Amino acid sequence: MSPDAPSTDSTGAIDVARRNLLVHATTSVGVAGLGAACWPFIASWQPSEAARALGVPVEVDCSTIAPGQMRVVVWRRKPIYIVRRTAAMLALMGGHDAALKDPDSTDSQQPAYADNPLRSRAPSLFVAIGVCTHLGCIPRARFEVGGPHMGEQWPGGFLCPCHGSRYDLAGRVFKGSPAPTNLEIPPYSMAGPDQLVVG
Ligand code: FES
Repeated sequence: MSPDAPSTDSTGAIDVARRNLLVHATTSVGVAGLGAACWPFIASWQPSEAARALGVPVEVDCSTIAPGQMRVVVWRRKPIYIVRRTAAMLALMGGHDAALKDPDSTDSQQPAYADNPLRSRAPSLFVAIGVCTHLGCIPRARFEVGGPHMGEQWPGGFLCPCHGSRYDLAGRVFKGSPAPTNLEIPPYSMAGPDQLVVG
């Protein structure tokens, strides 16, 4: 008898129950085999532990950042600048809008709560992604006002060492810089008066 021929009992009648059992068994084995073959591909779609860790918010205790100082933390592999701005720093923020490319940050990226002249939730705490918007170098803090290197009109801010882009203490880029837009502000919230959560 051919393997495909319907099975018959001793009377020659087709054994329907046996045939259905064989069909179900064959189908089950096929599905299980397909699942085993696909598992490596399906597993590769799952986010890795490292990827999950990358998306985790970063908590920072800002109580130890002295006035006028900056701390740098890493979030999603990017440096996050946290500056405790002093009253003197803030007093210099409004005097140079005409020298900025995007003083109102209309072409720059920030969350809605940082869409204001100081680009922050609270005036004293400035949070920004420390990546130059030109070609991605890391700007350096230049908080000292004036001076021989930055010029007498320098109000304090950041200088990118790669091609000389300059930003003020709200991350707003000065005209004459190759960087097109202000420093990006990341999403962040405050879990307490000094408890910053980035991400
Ligand atoms: S990368 Fe900053 S000025 Fe070019």
